[in-house]
Amino acid sequence: MDDIRNRDPIALFQEWLAEAETSEPNDPTAMCLATVDAAGSPSARMVLLKGVDSGGFAFYTNLESRKGNELAHEKFAALCFHWKSLRRQVRVEGAIEPVSDAEADAYFASRARVSQLGAWASDQSRPLDSRATLEARVSEMEARFAGRPVPRPPNWSGFRVLPRAIEFWKDGPFRLHDRIVFRRAGSAWSTERLYP
Ligand SMILES: Cc1cc2nc3c(=O)[nH]c(=O)nc-3n(C[C@H](O)[C@H](O)[C@H](O)COP(=O)(O)O)c2cc1C
Repeated sequence: MDDIRNRDPIALFQEWLAEAETSEPNDPTAMCLATVDAAGSPSARMVLLKGVDSGGFAFYTNLESRKGNELAHEKFAALCFHWKSLRRQVRVEGAIEPVSDAEADAYFASRARVSQLGAWASDQSRPLDSRATLEARVSEMEARFAGRPVPRPPNWSGFRVLPRAIEFWKDGPFRLHDRIVFRRAGSAWSTERLYP
């Protein structure tokens, strides 16, 4: 895998993702997002990648969720992709920044209407007494926004992970895997091979 060391890691990531899109049975953009709370305690959950370019890796969520609260205080995150069909993993680490309101509005507008209503109805990560309560809240939102576009809720937006390290991992025989890590050095990237 040494041939990838002269590549731009974002372009390489986009290539691996495009391959995963042809081979994964579902959710090739699913990634595990790790955050940390103020006491240093980590938590992880899956989210969907909704954009990647030289500016970073973007995803969307409820800002008052557990992850939203953690990212509001501890502005670093890690991402991990695992494409089982390709036996590949990519790890990303870096600082986070909020996406712009315009970006969040554009992405929210592209979502299915029921998903938009769900974003209003869900107090993500807070206790919920029953599924019936959630469904009743979705119905309330349907009535509230009947006959007009659903605006983006004020507590719903996105973040971008600004990568300072991106590691590409490829399965090898007998666990002798390939690992190449790219680390940002100013505007360029340095690379290193790691023991598997
Ligand atoms: C494949 C998959 C994709 C998901 N995508 C998102 C997403 O893009 N945004 C989101 O807020 N939650 C997403 N979820 C739900 C999260 O994993 C999680 O349950 C939720 O965001 C609450 O996390 P928190 O309590 O740690 O904030 C996804 C779950 C799965 C399994």
